[in-house]
Amino acid sequence: MMKADIIVLGGGPGGYLAAERAGAAGKKVVLIEKNALGGTCLNEGCIPSKALLNSAKIFQHAKEGAVFGVLTEDIKLDTEQVINHKNQVVNALVSGVCAMMDANGVHVVSEFGYVEGKTEEGFVVKAGAETYSADTLILASGSVPVIPPIPGLKEGVADGTVWTNREALDATKLPEKLVVIGGGVIGLEMASYYAMSGVNVTIVEMMDKIAGPMEREVSDILLRAYRRKGVKFKLGCKVTGVTPEGVLYEKNGEEKLEEADQILCAIGRRPYTENMGLENLGLEMNRSAVVTDDHLRTNVDGVYAVGDINGKVMLAHTAYREAEVAVNNILGKEDRMDYSTIPSVIYTDPEVAGVGESEESAEKKGMKVRSVSLSMNYSGRYLAEVQQGDGICKLIVNEEDNTVVGVHMIGSYASEIILAAELMITSHKTVPELQKLVFPHPTVGEIIRETLFL
Ligand code: FAD
Ligand code: NAI
Repeated sequence: MMKADIIVLGGGPGGYLAAERAGAAGKKVVLIEKNALGGTCLNEGCIPSKALLNSAKIFQHAKEGAVFGVLTEDIKLDTEQVINHKNQVVNALVSGVCAMMDANGVHVVSEFGYVEGKTEEGFVVKAGAETYSADTLILASGSVPVIPPIPGLKEGVADGTVWTNREALDATKLPEKLVVIGGGVIGLEMASYYAMSGVNVTIVEMMDKIAGPMEREVSDILLRAYRRKGVKFKLGCKVTGVTPEGVLYEKNGEEKLEEADQILCAIGRRPYTENMGLENLGLEMNRSAVVTDDHLRTNVDGVYAVGDINGKVMLAHTAYREAEVAVNNILGKEDRMDYSTIPSVIYTDPEVAGVGESEESAEKKGMKVRSVSLSMNYSGRYLAEVQQGDGICKLIVNEEDNTVVGVHMIGSYASEIILAAELMITSHKTVPELQKLVFPHPTVGEIIRETLFL
Protein backbone atom coordinates (compact mmCIF):
# COMPACT_ATOMS: atom_id res chain seq x y z
CA MET A 1 0.00 0.00 0.00
CA MET A 2 1.34 3.42 -0.93
CA LYS A 3 0.97 6.01 1.83
CA ALA A 4 0.35 9.67 0.96
CA ASP A 5 -0.68 12.78 2.92
CA ILE A 6 -3.67 13.48 0.70
CA ILE A 7 -5.61 11.44 -1.85
CA VAL A 8 -7.63 13.44 -4.38
CA LEU A 9 -10.34 11.49 -6.19
CA GLY A 10 -11.09 13.07 -9.59
CA GLY A 11 -8.88 15.27 -11.77
CA GLY A 12 -11.27 18.01 -12.96
CA PRO A 13 -10.94 21.70 -11.96
CA GLY A 14 -11.75 20.91 -8.31
CA GLY A 15 -9.42 17.92 -8.06
CA TYR A 16 -6.44 19.12 -10.07
CA LEU A 17 -6.35 22.52 -8.43
CA ALA A 18 -6.53 20.95 -4.96
CA ALA A 19 -3.71 18.56 -5.91
CA GLU A 20 -1.58 21.38 -7.30
CA ARG A 21 -2.01 23.63 -4.25
CA ALA A 22 -1.38 20.80 -1.78
CA GLY A 23 1.64 19.58 -3.79
CA ALA A 24 3.04 23.12 -3.91
CA ALA A 25 2.75 23.28 -0.12
CA GLY A 26 4.98 20.20 0.17
CA LYS A 27 2.29 17.57 0.78
CA LYS A 28 2.63 14.11 -0.71
CA VAL A 29 -0.40 13.98 -3.01
CA VAL A 30 -1.93 11.14 -5.02
CA LEU A 31 -4.43 12.28 -7.69
CA ILE A 32 -6.64 9.51 -9.09
CA GLU A 33 -8.36 10.17 -12.43
CA LYS A 34 -10.02 7.54 -14.61
CA ASN A 35 -10.08 9.63 -17.82
CA ALA A 36 -8.04 12.58 -19.05
CA LEU A 37 -6.98 15.20 -16.53
CA GLY A 38 -9.07 18.36 -16.72
CA GLY A 39 -12.42 16.63 -16.13
CA THR A 40 -15.69 17.71 -17.69
CA CYS A 41 -14.55 21.32 -17.96
CA LEU A 42 -11.52 20.78 -20.17
CA ASN A 43 -12.63 17.67 -22.06
CA GLU A 44 -16.37 17.97 -22.62
CA GLY A 45 -17.60 21.20 -21.06
CA CYS A 46 -16.40 24.78 -20.65
CA ILE A 47 -13.45 24.80 -23.02
CA PRO A 48 -14.63 22.71 -26.01
CA SER A 49 -17.99 24.49 -26.01
CA LYS A 50 -16.28 27.90 -26.15
CA ALA A 51 -13.97 26.75 -28.96
CA LEU A 52 -16.98 25.63 -31.03
CA LEU A 53 -18.96 28.77 -30.22
CA ASN A 54 -16.07 30.92 -31.37
CA SER A 55 -15.84 29.12 -34.73
CA ALA A 56 -19.58 29.55 -35.29
CA LYS A 57 -19.40 33.19 -34.21
CA ILE A 58 -16.64 33.93 -36.76
CA PHE A 59 -18.74 32.19 -39.43
CA GLN A 60 -21.88 34.15 -38.52
CA HIS A 61 -20.07 37.49 -38.26
CA ALA A 62 -18.39 36.93 -41.62
CA LYS A 63 -21.81 36.37 -43.20
CA GLU A 64 -23.06 39.60 -41.62
CA GLY A 65 -19.94 41.59 -42.52
CA ALA A 66 -21.48 43.83 -45.19
CA VAL A 67 -22.74 46.36 -42.65
CA PHE A 68 -19.16 46.81 -41.44
CA GLY A 69 -17.85 47.08 -45.01
CA VAL A 70 -16.58 43.52 -45.17
CA LEU A 71 -17.81 41.73 -48.26
CA THR A 72 -17.39 37.98 -48.41
CA GLU A 73 -18.57 35.33 -50.81
CA ASP A 74 -19.16 31.62 -50.62
CA ILE A 75 -18.38 31.26 -46.92
CA LYS A 76 -18.36 27.69 -45.64
CA LEU A 77 -17.96 26.09 -42.27
CA ASP A 78 -15.45 23.24 -42.31
CA THR A 79 -16.82 21.20 -39.41
CA GLU A 80 -13.90 18.73 -39.50
CA GLN A 81 -11.53 21.65 -38.91
CA VAL A 82 -13.87 23.16 -36.26
CA ILE A 83 -13.58 19.90 -34.30
CA ASN A 84 -9.81 19.60 -35.00
CA HIS A 85 -9.24 23.08 -33.67
CA LYS A 86 -11.37 22.32 -30.59
CA ASN A 87 -9.36 19.13 -30.00
CA GLN A 88 -6.06 21.00 -30.32
CA VAL A 89 -7.18 23.52 -27.70
CA VAL A 90 -8.34 20.74 -25.36
CA ASN A 91 -5.10 18.76 -25.81
CA ALA A 92 -2.94 21.82 -25.15
CA LEU A 93 -4.79 22.56 -21.92
CA VAL A 94 -4.81 18.94 -20.73
CA SER A 95 -1.03 18.78 -21.34
CA GLY A 96 -0.70 21.96 -19.32
CA VAL A 97 -2.50 20.35 -16.38
CA CYS A 98 -0.24 17.26 -16.64
CA ALA A 99 2.83 19.52 -16.57
CA MET A 100 1.41 21.39 -13.56
CA MET A 101 0.99 18.11 -11.67
CA ASP A 102 4.59 17.13 -12.48
CA ALA A 103 5.91 20.52 -11.43
CA ASN A 104 4.23 20.18 -8.04
CA GLY A 105 5.26 16.59 -7.39
CA VAL A 106 1.71 15.20 -7.62
CA HIS A 107 1.59 11.45 -8.22
CA VAL A 108 -1.11 10.97 -10.90
CA VAL A 109 -2.81 7.58 -11.11
CA SER A 110 -4.77 6.99 -14.33
CA GLU A 111 -7.30 4.53 -12.95
CA PHE A 112 -10.81 4.36 -11.52
CA GLY A 113 -10.62 4.95 -7.77
CA TYR A 114 -12.73 2.94 -5.34
CA VAL A 115 -12.93 4.05 -1.69
CA GLU A 116 -12.62 0.99 0.53
CA GLY A 117 -13.12 2.90 3.77
CA LYS A 118 -11.11 3.99 6.80
CA THR A 119 -8.55 1.75 8.53
CA GLU A 120 -5.67 2.44 10.96
CA GLU A 121 -3.67 3.36 7.80
CA GLY A 122 -6.12 6.18 7.08
CA PHE A 123 -8.55 6.38 4.17
CA VAL A 124 -7.91 3.56 1.73
CA VAL A 125 -8.55 3.91 -2.01
CA LYS A 126 -8.00 1.14 -4.53
CA ALA A 127 -7.03 2.22 -8.06
CA GLY A 128 -6.10 -0.46 -10.58
CA ALA A 129 -3.65 -2.94 -9.11
CA GLU A 130 -2.45 -0.51 -6.39
CA THR A 131 -3.95 0.59 -3.08
CA TYR A 132 -3.31 4.02 -1.58
CA SER A 133 -3.88 5.39 1.90
CA ALA A 134 -3.88 8.89 3.41
CA ASP A 135 -5.22 10.72 6.45
CA THR A 136 -6.98 13.25 4.21
CA LEU A 137 -9.27 12.56 1.31
CA ILE A 138 -10.53 15.19 -1.13
CA LEU A 139 -13.52 13.99 -3.14
CA ALA A 140 -13.87 15.70 -6.54
CA SER A 141 -15.68 13.21 -8.78
CA GLY A 142 -17.77 15.90 -10.51
CA SER A 143 -21.16 15.42 -12.14
CA VAL A 144 -22.99 13.60 -14.93
CA PRO A 145 -26.01 14.54 -17.10
CA VAL A 146 -29.47 13.97 -15.62
CA ILE A 147 -31.39 11.48 -17.74
CA PRO A 148 -34.90 11.19 -16.26
CA PRO A 149 -37.12 8.15 -16.84
CA ILE A 150 -38.87 9.61 -19.87
CA PRO A 151 -39.89 6.84 -22.31
CA GLY A 152 -37.27 6.42 -25.02
CA LEU A 153 -34.79 8.87 -23.50
CA LYS A 154 -32.48 6.58 -21.48
CA GLU A 155 -32.42 4.07 -24.31
CA GLY A 156 -31.62 6.83 -26.82
CA VAL A 157 -28.74 8.14 -24.70
CA ALA A 158 -27.47 4.59 -24.17
CA ASP A 159 -27.41 3.75 -27.89
CA GLY A 160 -26.03 7.19 -28.88
CA THR A 161 -29.07 8.30 -30.92
CA VAL A 162 -29.83 10.98 -28.33
CA TRP A 163 -26.87 13.27 -27.63
CA THR A 164 -25.66 14.62 -24.33
CA ASN A 165 -23.09 17.43 -24.22
CA ARG A 166 -20.31 14.93 -25.01
CA GLU A 167 -21.61 13.96 -28.46
CA ALA A 168 -22.87 17.48 -29.21
CA LEU A 169 -19.31 18.76 -28.79
CA ASP A 170 -17.79 16.22 -31.15
CA ALA A 171 -20.03 16.08 -34.23
CA THR A 172 -18.28 16.55 -37.55
CA LYS A 173 -21.54 16.04 -39.43
CA LEU A 174 -24.22 18.64 -38.74
CA PRO A 175 -27.83 17.46 -38.41
CA GLU A 176 -30.53 19.14 -40.46
CA LYS A 177 -32.91 19.61 -37.59
CA LEU A 178 -31.79 19.55 -33.98
CA VAL A 179 -34.27 19.48 -31.12
CA VAL A 180 -32.77 20.49 -27.78
CA ILE A 181 -34.54 19.33 -24.63
CA GLY A 182 -33.95 22.02 -21.99
CA GLY A 183 -33.49 25.77 -22.39
CA GLY A 184 -30.87 26.04 -19.65
CA VAL A 185 -27.17 26.86 -20.02
CA ILE A 186 -26.05 23.82 -22.02
CA GLY A 187 -29.14 23.86 -24.23
CA LEU A 188 -28.66 27.55 -25.01
CA GLU A 189 -24.92 27.39 -25.66
CA MET A 190 -25.25 24.33 -27.90
CA ALA A 191 -28.30 25.77 -29.69
CA SER A 192 -26.27 28.92 -30.35
CA TYR A 193 -23.41 26.90 -31.88
CA TYR A 194 -25.65 24.76 -34.07
CA ALA A 195 -27.96 27.60 -35.16
CA MET A 196 -25.02 29.83 -36.11
CA SER A 197 -23.60 26.86 -38.04
CA GLY A 198 -26.75 26.74 -40.15
CA VAL A 199 -28.73 24.00 -38.39
CA ASN A 200 -32.49 24.32 -37.90
CA VAL A 201 -32.81 24.32 -34.08
CA THR A 202 -35.84 24.06 -31.78
CA ILE A 203 -35.58 24.24 -27.98
CA VAL A 204 -38.31 22.55 -25.92
CA GLU A 205 -38.37 24.01 -22.39
CA MET A 206 -40.87 23.23 -19.65
CA MET A 207 -40.68 26.63 -17.97
CA ASP A 208 -42.16 29.76 -19.54
CA LYS A 209 -38.71 31.35 -19.80
CA ILE A 210 -35.22 30.38 -20.88
CA ALA A 211 -32.03 30.50 -18.76
CA GLY A 212 -33.88 29.57 -15.55
CA PRO A 213 -32.54 31.72 -12.72
CA MET A 214 -31.42 34.59 -14.98
CA GLU A 215 -33.12 38.01 -14.52
CA ARG A 216 -36.42 38.02 -16.43
CA GLU A 217 -35.62 41.19 -18.40
CA VAL A 218 -32.28 39.73 -19.51
CA SER A 219 -33.76 36.36 -20.36
CA ASP A 220 -36.46 38.03 -22.51
CA ILE A 221 -33.81 39.94 -24.50
CA LEU A 222 -31.85 36.71 -24.97
CA LEU A 223 -34.99 34.97 -26.24
CA ARG A 224 -35.48 37.70 -28.86
CA ALA A 225 -31.82 37.45 -29.92
CA TYR A 226 -32.18 33.68 -30.40
CA ARG A 227 -35.38 34.09 -32.38
CA ARG A 228 -33.56 36.55 -34.66
CA LYS A 229 -30.98 33.82 -35.28
CA GLY A 230 -33.82 31.53 -36.36
CA VAL A 231 -34.00 29.35 -33.23
CA LYS A 232 -37.54 28.22 -32.46
CA PHE A 233 -38.90 27.73 -28.96
CA LYS A 234 -41.56 25.58 -27.39
CA LEU A 235 -41.87 27.22 -23.99
CA GLY A 236 -44.03 25.81 -21.19
CA CYS A 237 -43.69 22.43 -22.91
CA LYS A 238 -42.66 19.43 -20.86
CA VAL A 239 -40.95 16.63 -22.75
CA THR A 240 -42.73 13.35 -22.08
CA GLY A 241 -41.18 10.97 -24.59
CA VAL A 242 -38.57 10.42 -27.27
CA THR A 243 -39.39 8.43 -30.43
CA PRO A 244 -37.49 7.75 -33.67
CA GLU A 245 -39.51 10.64 -35.20
CA GLY A 246 -38.60 13.21 -32.58
CA VAL A 247 -39.59 14.61 -29.20
CA LEU A 248 -43.01 14.28 -27.61
CA TYR A 249 -44.05 17.14 -25.35
CA GLU A 250 -47.06 18.13 -23.36
CA LYS A 251 -48.70 21.53 -23.45
CA ASN A 252 -52.03 22.31 -21.75
CA GLY A 253 -52.77 18.61 -21.36
CA GLU A 254 -52.21 17.87 -25.04
CA GLU A 255 -49.36 15.71 -26.36
CA LYS A 256 -47.53 16.92 -29.49
CA LEU A 257 -44.56 15.80 -31.56
CA GLU A 258 -41.61 17.98 -32.54
CA GLU A 259 -39.88 16.21 -35.39
CA ALA A 260 -36.12 15.91 -35.22
CA ASP A 261 -33.30 14.17 -36.96
CA GLN A 262 -31.11 14.73 -33.91
CA ILE A 263 -32.02 15.24 -30.25
CA LEU A 264 -29.81 16.76 -27.55
CA CYS A 265 -30.75 16.15 -23.92
CA ALA A 266 -29.68 19.05 -21.66
CA ILE A 267 -31.98 19.02 -18.65
CA GLY A 268 -29.45 19.42 -15.88
CA ARG A 269 -26.53 17.65 -14.20
CA ARG A 270 -26.26 15.81 -10.89
CA PRO A 271 -23.30 14.97 -8.66
CA TYR A 272 -21.55 11.74 -9.62
CA THR A 273 -21.24 9.73 -6.42
CA GLU A 274 -22.38 6.17 -7.07
CA ASN A 275 -20.42 2.90 -7.36
CA MET A 276 -17.14 4.31 -6.09
CA GLY A 277 -17.36 3.18 -2.46
CA LEU A 278 -18.44 6.50 -0.97
CA GLU A 279 -21.02 4.60 1.11
CA ASN A 280 -18.04 3.03 2.95
CA LEU A 281 -17.30 6.41 4.50
CA GLY A 282 -20.65 7.12 6.17
CA LEU A 283 -21.01 10.48 4.43
CA GLU A 284 -24.04 12.67 4.91
CA MET A 285 -25.71 12.96 1.51
CA ASN A 286 -28.43 15.15 0.05
CA ARG A 287 -29.76 12.96 -2.78
CA SER A 288 -26.64 12.37 -4.88
CA ALA A 289 -24.70 15.34 -3.44
CA VAL A 290 -22.13 15.10 -0.64
CA VAL A 291 -23.07 17.60 2.06
CA THR A 292 -20.32 20.12 2.88
CA ASP A 293 -19.92 23.17 5.13
CA ASP A 294 -18.31 26.47 4.16
CA HIS A 295 -14.85 24.96 4.84
CA LEU A 296 -15.71 22.19 2.30
CA ARG A 297 -15.59 19.65 5.14
CA THR A 298 -17.98 16.71 5.07
CA ASN A 299 -19.44 15.15 8.23
CA VAL A 300 -16.49 12.71 8.23
CA ASP A 301 -13.32 14.11 9.80
CA GLY A 302 -10.55 14.35 7.18
CA VAL A 303 -12.88 14.07 4.17
CA TYR A 304 -13.52 17.15 1.99
CA ALA A 305 -15.73 17.42 -1.12
CA VAL A 306 -15.09 20.11 -3.75
CA GLY A 307 -16.67 21.00 -7.09
CA ASP A 308 -19.86 19.62 -8.65
CA ILE A 309 -19.91 16.66 -6.21
CA ASN A 310 -21.38 18.88 -3.48
CA GLY A 311 -24.06 20.16 -5.89
CA LYS A 312 -23.94 23.72 -4.57
CA VAL A 313 -22.94 25.90 -7.55
CA MET A 314 -21.89 23.57 -10.35
CA LEU A 315 -19.38 25.79 -12.13
CA ALA A 316 -15.67 25.41 -12.78
CA HIS A 317 -14.74 28.70 -11.12
CA THR A 318 -16.64 27.62 -8.00
CA ALA A 319 -14.72 24.33 -8.02
CA TYR A 320 -11.40 26.22 -8.20
CA ARG A 321 -12.20 28.40 -5.21
CA GLU A 322 -13.64 25.47 -3.21
CA ALA A 323 -10.44 23.51 -3.86
CA GLU A 324 -8.38 26.41 -2.49
CA VAL A 325 -10.59 26.73 0.57
CA ALA A 326 -10.36 22.99 1.29
CA VAL A 327 -6.57 22.90 0.91
CA ASN A 328 -6.07 26.03 3.00
CA ASN A 329 -8.08 24.45 5.82
CA ILE A 330 -6.15 21.18 5.48
CA LEU A 331 -2.92 23.21 5.78
CA GLY A 332 -4.28 24.84 8.94
CA LYS A 333 -5.03 28.22 7.30
CA GLU A 334 -8.55 29.38 8.09
CA ASP A 335 -10.52 30.03 4.87
CA ARG A 336 -14.22 30.04 4.07
CA MET A 337 -16.26 29.74 0.89
CA ASP A 338 -18.56 32.63 0.04
CA TYR A 339 -21.19 31.65 -2.53
CA SER A 340 -22.96 35.03 -2.60
CA THR A 341 -21.00 36.68 -5.42
CA ILE A 342 -20.14 33.90 -7.83
CA PRO A 343 -20.57 35.22 -11.36
CA SER A 344 -22.65 33.26 -13.84
CA VAL A 345 -22.13 33.58 -17.57
CA ILE A 346 -23.82 32.18 -20.64
CA TYR A 347 -21.42 32.31 -23.56
CA THR A 348 -24.00 32.84 -26.25
CA ASP A 349 -23.94 35.57 -28.87
CA PRO A 350 -24.85 37.97 -27.24
CA GLU A 351 -23.19 36.99 -23.98
CA VAL A 352 -25.10 37.07 -20.71
CA ALA A 353 -23.47 37.60 -17.33
CA GLY A 354 -24.69 38.28 -13.83
CA VAL A 355 -23.39 38.50 -10.28
CA GLY A 356 -24.96 39.11 -6.89
CA GLU A 357 -28.65 39.76 -6.25
CA SER A 358 -31.36 39.86 -8.86
CA GLU A 359 -34.53 41.87 -8.24
CA GLU A 360 -36.33 38.64 -7.34
CA SER A 361 -33.66 37.31 -4.97
CA ALA A 362 -33.30 40.69 -3.21
CA GLU A 363 -37.06 40.85 -2.77
CA LYS A 364 -37.13 37.33 -1.30
CA LYS A 365 -34.50 38.40 1.25
CA GLY A 366 -36.63 41.40 2.20
CA MET A 367 -34.00 43.87 0.93
CA LYS A 368 -35.13 47.31 -0.18
CA VAL A 369 -33.55 47.76 -3.59
CA ARG A 370 -33.89 49.91 -6.68
CA SER A 371 -32.82 48.77 -10.11
CA VAL A 372 -31.48 50.91 -12.94
CA SER A 373 -30.78 49.74 -16.46
CA LEU A 374 -29.22 51.28 -19.51
CA SER A 375 -28.99 50.19 -23.13
CA MET A 376 -25.54 48.97 -24.14
CA ASN A 377 -25.82 51.35 -27.11
CA TYR A 378 -24.62 54.12 -24.76
CA SER A 379 -21.17 52.53 -25.10
CA GLY A 380 -19.41 53.86 -28.21
CA ARG A 381 -17.35 50.69 -28.52
CA TYR A 382 -20.46 48.52 -28.38
CA LEU A 383 -22.21 50.58 -31.04
CA ALA A 384 -19.15 50.43 -33.30
CA GLU A 385 -18.85 46.67 -33.06
CA VAL A 386 -22.33 45.21 -32.67
CA GLN A 387 -24.81 45.05 -35.48
CA GLN A 388 -28.09 44.32 -33.72
CA GLY A 389 -27.61 45.52 -30.20
CA ASP A 390 -30.42 45.47 -27.72
CA GLY A 391 -28.12 44.61 -24.83
CA ILE A 392 -28.55 46.17 -21.41
CA CYS A 393 -26.63 46.71 -18.20
CA LYS A 394 -28.73 46.53 -15.05
CA LEU A 395 -27.60 47.46 -11.55
CA ILE A 396 -29.39 46.45 -8.37
CA VAL A 397 -28.72 49.00 -5.62
CA ASN A 398 -29.41 48.53 -1.93
CA GLU A 399 -31.50 51.56 -0.90
CA GLU A 400 -30.36 51.31 2.70
CA ASP A 401 -26.63 51.92 2.22
CA ASN A 402 -26.53 52.91 -1.48
CA THR A 403 -24.18 50.04 -2.41
CA VAL A 404 -24.43 47.92 -5.56
CA VAL A 405 -25.60 44.39 -4.70
CA GLY A 406 -26.18 42.94 -8.17
CA VAL A 407 -25.16 43.50 -11.79
CA HIS A 408 -26.75 41.80 -14.82
CA MET A 409 -25.70 42.32 -18.39
CA ILE A 410 -26.46 41.09 -21.87
CA GLY A 411 -24.22 42.05 -24.76
CA SER A 412 -20.71 41.59 -26.17
CA TYR A 413 -17.90 41.30 -23.62
CA ALA A 414 -20.33 40.81 -20.70
CA SER A 415 -18.31 37.74 -19.66
CA GLU A 416 -15.14 39.83 -19.38
CA ILE A 417 -16.76 42.83 -17.69
CA ILE A 418 -18.56 40.92 -14.96
CA LEU A 419 -15.41 40.55 -12.85
CA ALA A 420 -15.32 44.35 -12.44
CA ALA A 421 -18.92 44.17 -11.24
CA GLU A 422 -18.00 41.46 -8.75
CA LEU A 423 -15.19 43.66 -7.39
CA MET A 424 -17.60 46.58 -7.06
CA ILE A 425 -20.05 44.49 -5.08
CA THR A 426 -17.48 42.91 -2.78
CA SER A 427 -15.79 46.28 -2.14
CA HIS A 428 -19.07 47.47 -0.49
CA LYS A 429 -18.34 50.96 -1.81
CA THR A 430 -21.26 53.35 -2.20
CA VAL A 431 -22.52 54.51 -5.58
CA PRO A 432 -20.90 58.00 -5.22
CA GLU A 433 -17.58 56.28 -4.39
CA LEU A 434 -17.87 53.95 -7.39
CA GLN A 435 -18.68 56.90 -9.67
CA LYS A 436 -15.09 58.08 -9.09
CA LEU A 437 -13.61 54.97 -10.76
CA VAL A 438 -11.90 55.77 -14.05
CA PHE A 439 -12.89 53.36 -16.81
CA PRO A 440 -10.74 53.03 -19.95
CA HIS A 441 -12.34 54.61 -23.04
CA PRO A 442 -13.68 53.35 -25.37
CA THR A 443 -14.66 50.07 -23.75
CA VAL A 444 -17.98 48.30 -23.40
CA GLY A 445 -17.27 48.20 -19.65
CA GLU A 446 -17.86 51.95 -19.51
CA ILE A 447 -21.54 51.08 -19.56
CA ILE A 448 -21.24 50.31 -15.85
CA ARG A 449 -19.96 53.83 -15.20
CA GLU A 450 -22.83 55.29 -17.23
CA THR A 451 -25.38 53.19 -15.36
CA LEU A 452 -23.93 54.28 -12.00
CA PHE A 453 -24.94 57.86 -12.82
CA LEU A 454 -28.63 57.05 -13.44
P1 FAD B 1 -15.38 17.38 -13.23
O1 FAD B 1 -14.81 18.41 -14.10
O2 FAD B 1 -16.60 16.65 -13.67
O3 FAD B 1 -14.22 16.33 -12.94
C1 FAD B 1 -14.43 15.18 -12.21
C2 FAD B 1 -13.41 14.16 -12.64
O4 FAD B 1 -13.44 13.06 -11.74
C3 FAD B 1 -13.70 13.56 -14.02
O5 FAD B 1 -12.57 13.73 -14.85
C4 FAD B 1 -13.98 12.09 -13.76
O6 FAD B 1 -13.49 11.24 -14.79
C5 FAD B 1 -13.23 11.86 -12.47
N1 FAD B 1 -13.75 10.77 -11.63
C6 FAD B 1 -15.00 10.65 -11.13
N2 FAD B 1 -15.09 9.56 -10.35
C7 FAD B 1 -13.87 8.97 -10.38
C8 FAD B 1 -13.35 7.80 -9.78
N3 FAD B 1 -14.09 7.04 -8.97
N4 FAD B 1 -12.06 7.50 -10.03
C9 FAD B 1 -11.29 8.27 -10.82
N5 FAD B 1 -11.73 9.38 -11.41
C10 FAD B 1 -13.01 9.74 -11.19
N6 FAD B 1 -18.60 25.77 -15.92
C11 FAD B 1 -18.13 27.04 -15.98
O7 FAD B 1 -17.75 27.59 -14.96
N7 FAD B 1 -18.09 27.72 -17.17
C12 FAD B 1 -18.50 27.16 -18.32
O8 FAD B 1 -18.43 27.79 -19.37
C13 FAD B 1 -18.99 25.83 -18.29
N8 FAD B 1 -19.40 25.23 -19.42
C14 FAD B 1 -19.84 23.93 -19.37
C15 FAD B 1 -20.29 23.35 -20.56
C16 FAD B 1 -20.76 22.05 -20.54
C17 FAD B 1 -21.23 21.43 -21.83
C18 FAD B 1 -20.78 21.32 -19.32
C19 FAD B 1 -21.27 19.91 -19.28
C20 FAD B 1 -20.34 21.90 -18.14
C21 FAD B 1 -19.89 23.22 -18.16
N9 FAD B 1 -19.46 23.87 -16.99
C22 FAD B 1 -19.02 25.16 -17.04
C23 FAD B 1 -19.47 23.18 -15.69
C24 FAD B 1 -18.06 22.66 -15.36
O9 FAD B 1 -17.62 21.80 -16.39
C25 FAD B 1 -18.09 21.93 -14.03
O10 FAD B 1 -18.65 22.77 -13.04
C26 FAD B 1 -16.68 21.56 -13.59
O11 FAD B 1 -16.07 20.72 -14.55
C27 FAD B 1 -16.72 20.85 -12.24
O12 FAD B 1 -15.44 20.46 -11.87
P2 FAD B 1 -15.22 19.18 -10.94
O13 FAD B 1 -13.75 19.09 -10.71
O14 FAD B 1 -16.09 19.25 -9.77
O15 FAD B 1 -15.73 17.94 -11.79
P1 NAI C 1 -29.92 23.64 -16.48
O1 NAI C 1 -30.38 23.30 -15.13
O2 NAI C 1 -29.19 24.91 -16.72
O3 NAI C 1 -31.16 23.65 -17.47
C1 NAI C 1 -32.02 22.56 -17.64
C2 NAI C 1 -33.32 23.03 -18.25
O4 NAI C 1 -34.09 21.90 -18.65
C3 NAI C 1 -34.18 23.83 -17.26
O5 NAI C 1 -34.52 25.06 -17.84
C4 NAI C 1 -35.40 22.92 -17.05
O6 NAI C 1 -36.59 23.66 -16.83
C5 NAI C 1 -35.45 22.15 -18.35
N1 NAI C 1 -36.16 20.85 -18.25
C6 NAI C 1 -36.03 19.91 -17.29
N2 NAI C 1 -36.84 18.85 -17.56
C7 NAI C 1 -37.49 19.12 -18.72
C8 NAI C 1 -38.44 18.43 -19.51
N3 NAI C 1 -38.91 17.21 -19.19
N4 NAI C 1 -38.91 19.02 -20.62
C9 NAI C 1 -38.46 20.23 -20.99
N5 NAI C 1 -37.54 20.94 -20.28
C10 NAI C 1 -37.06 20.39 -19.17
O7 NAI C 1 -29.05 22.38 -16.96
P2 NAI C 1 -28.04 22.18 -18.18
O8 NAI C 1 -28.31 23.16 -19.26
O9 NAI C 1 -28.10 20.74 -18.50
O10 NAI C 1 -26.64 22.53 -17.54
C11 NAI C 1 -26.16 21.80 -16.42
C12 NAI C 1 -25.15 22.58 -15.66
O11 NAI C 1 -23.94 22.70 -16.38
C13 NAI C 1 -25.52 24.02 -15.37
O12 NAI C 1 -26.42 24.12 -14.31
C14 NAI C 1 -24.20 24.62 -15.05
O13 NAI C 1 -23.87 24.29 -13.73
C15 NAI C 1 -23.26 23.89 -15.99
N6 NAI C 1 -22.95 24.69 -17.20
C16 NAI C 1 -22.45 25.94 -17.09
C17 NAI C 1 -22.18 26.71 -18.19
C18 NAI C 1 -21.67 28.09 -18.02
O14 NAI C 1 -21.30 28.47 -16.94
N7 NAI C 1 -21.61 28.89 -19.08
C19 NAI C 1 -22.38 26.19 -19.54
C20 NAI C 1 -22.94 24.87 -19.56
C21 NAI C 1 -23.19 24.15 -18.43
